[in-house]
Amino acid sequence: MNRIFSGMQPTNKLHLGNYLGALRNWVALQGGYDSIFCIVDLHSLTLPQEPAALRRNTRELTAAYIAAGVDPSRCIIFAQSSVPAHSELSWILSCHAPLGWINRMTQFKEKAGKHRDAASLGLYSYPVLMAADILVYKATHVPVGEDQKQHLELTRDIAGAFNRAYGVDYFPLPEPQILGAAARVMSLRDGTKKMSKSDESDWSRINLTDDADMIAQKFRKAKTDPEPLPETVEALQQRPEADNLITIFAALDDCERQAVLDRFAGAQFSTFKTALSDLAVARLAPMTEEMRRLLADPGEIDRILRSGALKAAELANRHLAEIQEIIGILRP
Ligand code: TRP
Repeated sequence: MNRIFSGMQPTNKLHLGNYLGALRNWVALQGGYDSIFCIVDLHSLTLPQEPAALRRNTRELTAAYIAAGVDPSRCIIFAQSSVPAHSELSWILSCHAPLGWINRMTQFKEKAGKHRDAASLGLYSYPVLMAADILVYKATHVPVGEDQKQHLELTRDIAGAFNRAYGVDYFPLPEPQILGAAARVMSLRDGTKKMSKSDESDWSRINLTDDADMIAQKFRKAKTDPEPLPETVEALQQRPEADNLITIFAALDDCERQAVLDRFAGAQFSTFKTALSDLAVARLAPMTEEMRRLLADPGEIDRILRSGALKAAELANRHLAEIQEIIGILRP
């Protein structure tokens, strides 16, 4: 059976973009694959984290996975740090990753900014740990957003380099499953920017913890243009904000953008926004409710993480032993 692996960092609040762009997709995939979903807490250490916040965010992200429909009885859900084999394989793979490859990573350049010398080695080697996350399970498919495509290509390159160096066909080259256009949710304040947890304005995003009032207010304030809604998808091309709201509606309603336009063509944004916030509240409320229920019992979340870690470690340790055998690490 093919195996998928994916993960998110336990930083800050989850928003609608994370749900429509990733989580919902994982839920749809979990039946067809051997599925492993990770909370990549070690990756989040590449930027400063307050210890109490990291603990809280790790539980919150676990709750969000489950509330979104990722089923712990069918998938492995666990925290990266609880399976040390990730870190060990990361070291081994780093010895097969030429600096020239790592230096091409655009996300490092963005995150490090102007002060590249002040960036940590961890931020720099971030993509190697990501490769280890995937390869330690010999995952075949990795559902990720467009922004992670370069890291996936690097993972394939490193897997290939390892296989060639030892003359083996050990690691499968994992296929990225880039999530579709329907999943690209943009900022509510600027239709050309991705909805992001790092945007300083909270009005730019719908958080999965926002209540109905807040959701309605945010959609009401969302940037639009003065024209009524058009009849065709082509007419959305020069209207990023209109396109984004239509895209969100279509994603929440599980239909095509054209179907949304068929319903709302000629309408003013005020009318459409009311329908959109009603729909968002209806879709998100059961999820936020379930998240609250789970978070009220952290012991239950910790049990799920522990059981996931045991299952993950069994696989990862078996593979790590095979890898050590291939490269000549003595296991006395
Ligand atoms: N880098 C990914 C992100 O920021 C998170 C991640 C870490 C990941 N390891 C992974 C995603 C392995 C997929 C597979 O979105």
